[in-house]
Amino acid sequence: MNLVDKIDKSKLPQHIAIIMDGNGRWAKEHHKPRVFGHKNGVKSVRSVVEGAAEIGVKFLTLYAFSTENWKRPKLEVTALMQLLVNTISKEINDLDKNNVRLLTIGNIESLPKDCYNELLYAKEKTKNNTGLSLVLALSYSSKWEITDAIKKIAWEVENKKLSSDSIDESTLDNYLNTFNMPDPEFLIRTSGEHRISNFLLWQIAYAELYFTNKHWPDFRKEDLFEAIFDFQNRERRFGLISEQIKN
Ligand code: FPP
Repeated sequence: MNLVDKIDKSKLPQHIAIIMDGNGRWAKEHHKPRVFGHKNGVKSVRSVVEGAAEIGVKFLTLYAFSTENWKRPKLEVTALMQLLVNTISKEINDLDKNNVRLLTIGNIESLPKDCYNELLYAKEKTKNNTGLSLVLALSYSSKWEITDAIKKIAWEVENKKLSSDSIDESTLDNYLNTFNMPDPEFLIRTSGEHRISNFLLWQIAYAELYFTNKHWPDFRKEDLFEAIFDFQNRERRFGLISEQIKN
């Protein structure tokens, strides 16, 4: 049986988040500069987006550039930004035709102007699409996001728009960049590292984690399907005991 046919479409994770890791190491193994790894990583992005849309995943979040990534060599940062602009401008019509809605999380105002403008255009163009929501995490880190949310909540309290007694978990949910999205139920990280790297720390409280040794440029939609199949064979207990789940 085909891998995709083994997936139970009625039990898909609504939101999948991916830490795309290993572009640099993949390039090194191919005796090429790091940027070659990033360029090939775009092929994986295309395949995984296609796969997720094909089976009916609602949200797919890709960790494309972290707050910490700004500290990489200038040449690599510039190349990544250029790759992002080129990829979005090249793919946007196809994404739109396939009913994909593009969203972002992170401090996108800190990106170069052309990149920022391209993203605004792409988000506006696809805003009414009802298929897969593709969320790019750009200049994103979870600690930045939570700090920013707390600042906004503090401002509301200071200005008497919110009482501190009324603050609960849903208040923080509403001030995060992900305020209109379901929490990821499944987090995938490629390239053999077992870390979260400041990604969606609040939102993945109950997510299932999946690690593969494949470097990101080798990851394809078939690998996504295999991961989802693994997810579907896990028992998610949310703090309860097995018998409670089964009943
Ligand atoms: C991590 O590998 C990858 C990144 C920091 C960038 C990911 C970017 C892309 C796949 C291309 C553009 C994306 C989109 C959405 C168009 P690494 O460089 O940390 O690899 P290493 O750990 O082996 O050095």
